[in-house]
Amino acid sequence: MNKRGDAIVLVGFMGAGKSSVGRTLARMTGLPRFDTDELVGARFGLTIAEIFEKHGEEKFREAETEALRGLSGMGASVIVTGGGMVLRPENRELLRELGTVIHLSANEETLFARISRRPTRPLLRTENPRQTVSELRAIRSPLYREIADTEVDTSSLSHDEVARRILESIKS
Ligand code: S3P
Repeated sequence: MNKRGDAIVLVGFMGAGKSSVGRTLARMTGLPRFDTDELVGARFGLTIAEIFEKHGEEKFREAETEALRGLSGMGASVIVTGGGMVLRPENRELLRELGTVIHLSANEETLFARISRRPTRPLLRTENPRQTVSELRAIRSPLYREIADTEVDTSSLSHDEVARRILESIKS
């Protein structure tokens, strides 16, 4: 495998706290922050929901991989990824090359409660979003774990606490 970089890479399911913790980490460390959802959104000039609607999930996934490739060799930074980033094997390899991969996890009830507060995620516009969360999580959890150096359960932690744990794990 190629040499690993110096980025702190956040992966995990929707609602695990990746975006908020990414901002907190950037504030605490002074490192630049990149968010693949923001990069993809900016590229299309659309929200993620609009990209799914107009172009479909496959186009979104392609743009997601391109955004990740564009970050390769970025150096010390905080990289926030969308919950489905781990689905493609190529992405999983790229994520590990970028740096230390942190899996933000949470119990399903907490995830669902957080996700329900912001009902913008296209993949959860189903008849039974709770079941969809359960199914997607069953498929993805092993993939997050496969590539993660560290897992932090965010269920009952503040963003600051999660960020501090991540920084401690990187130091040790
Ligand atoms: C997705 C998660 C979203 C976003 C898109 C697809 C997924 O990001 O990339 O809606 O497949 O889990 P968040 O994890 O930041 O919600």
